[in-house]
Amino acid sequence: EKGGFDHFMLKEIHEQPKAITDTYRGRLLRQEAIIKMAGIEDNMKKFLNADRIIIVACGTSWHAGLVAEYIFEDLARVPVEVEYASEFRYRNPIITEKDVLIAISQSGETADTLAAIKLAKSKGAFVFGVCNVVGSSIARETHAGAYTHAGPEIGVASTKAFTTQITVLTLIALRLARAKGTISSSDFRHHLLELEMIPKKVEESLKSDAHIQKIAEIYKDVSNFLYLGRGYNFPVALEGALKLKEISYIHAEGYPAAEMKHGPIALIDENMPIVVIATKKGHYEKVVSNIQEIKSRKGKIIGIVTEGDVQVKELADHVIEVPETLESLSPLLTTIPLQLLSYHIAVMLGKNVDQPRNLAKSVTVE
Ligand code: M6R
Repeated sequence: EKGGFDHFMLKEIHEQPKAITDTYRGRLLRQEAIIKMAGIEDNMKKFLNADRIIIVACGTSWHAGLVAEYIFEDLARVPVEVEYASEFRYRNPIITEKDVLIAISQSGETADTLAAIKLAKSKGAFVFGVCNVVGSSIARETHAGAYTHAGPEIGVASTKAFTTQITVLTLIALRLARAKGTISSSDFRHHLLELEMIPKKVEESLKSDAHIQKIAEIYKDVSNFLYLGRGYNFPVALEGALKLKEISYIHAEGYPAAEMKHGPIALIDENMPIVVIATKKGHYEKVVSNIQEIKSRKGKIIGIVTEGDVQVKELADHVIEVPETLESLSPLLTTIPLQLLSYHIAVMLGKNVDQPRNLAKSVTVE
C-alpha cells in the first residue's frame, strides 16, 4: 500500500504533482480564464464585504495559513490575520459579523481549530473550511468550504496536505482578486498558467532526491539546524524546521532571514548548518547578503535556489535547485527539497518516519 516506497511519507512527497493537479482540477479553467469554486461563488458577498480574513490552524496547516496571508494581501488586498487556533480561542478575540474566518485542517478533527470555529460562529462570523478529509468534523461545522483533494495522508508528518492547502488558498486569493479588480486580467491569466505548471515543476524538484540524500549524509549527526527565508518563503522556513524536528528529533528553528541579526546569529559557528531559501524572485539580494553574514561566521550554508543561480552557488556549501516560478507560487517548490532533506536525515538516523514518537496524526485533544 506504500506503492513501492519505503515509507508513506516518501510516497506522499512523491504524490504531490498528482495531488496538486487534483486540487485545481475543475477549478482552474485556464482556457476560459476563470476560477470556479462553488464555496466561494455561493458566498462571494460575504468575502467581498469582509473587513478582514482571520485564518486559524495548527502546525503545518498554520504554516499554510501564513503563506496565504502573503497571497491574500498581495493579490486580493484584504487584511489577513493568521492565528494559532489554540491562542485565538482563549484570547477573548474581537470577532464581528464582518469577519470571515478560514479554518485550515488536513484531518478536519483538530480540537483547537474546531473550538475556534465554534467561537467565531457564535460571534456571527462567516466560517470557511479548507480540509482534506471529506465529511470531517471541521468540514461539517463550517458554513462552507473547499476540499484539498490530496487523498489520504497517512504519514504523521504533513507533506502533500501542505502543498495542496497552499494551492486551494491561492485559487481563493486569485478568485477574490478577480472579483475585487485588484489583479489585472493579464496578471490573472499569467498566474493561472504558472499555477497549472506547478505539478511539472514539483516533479522536476523531486529529481534532486539523490543529491539531497548526500547532503543529508553530511549533516545527519548535528544537533541543531537553522532555516531562513523571507517573504513568501519565511513560512516555508518554519515548515522545513518543523518537518526536521518532528521526524528526526534534531532541534531546528525557522526564522525570517532578516531577524537573524536580532539574536539567532549568535548561534552560528562552523558546526551550524543553515538552510537558506534564496530563490531569484523576492528579496534575492537581501537574502544573498544574509548568506554573506552567515559565511563570515563560518556557518554551513545549504541554499535552496532557482535553477541556473550563480551568486548563491559561489557562497553556499551546497545548493539545491528548484525551477523558476512566480514569487507567490515559490513555496510550492521550495518546500519539496526541505521535505526530502528531513526525510532522508530521519531514515539515516533510524527513526520511525511515519510514526514519530509522541505524535498523533490528528490532535483531537487540546
Ligand atoms: O489535521 P490538521 O491539519 O488540523 O493538523 C494540524 C497539525 O496537528 C499538523 O499539521 C501537525 O503539525 C503535523 N504533524 C505537521 O507535520
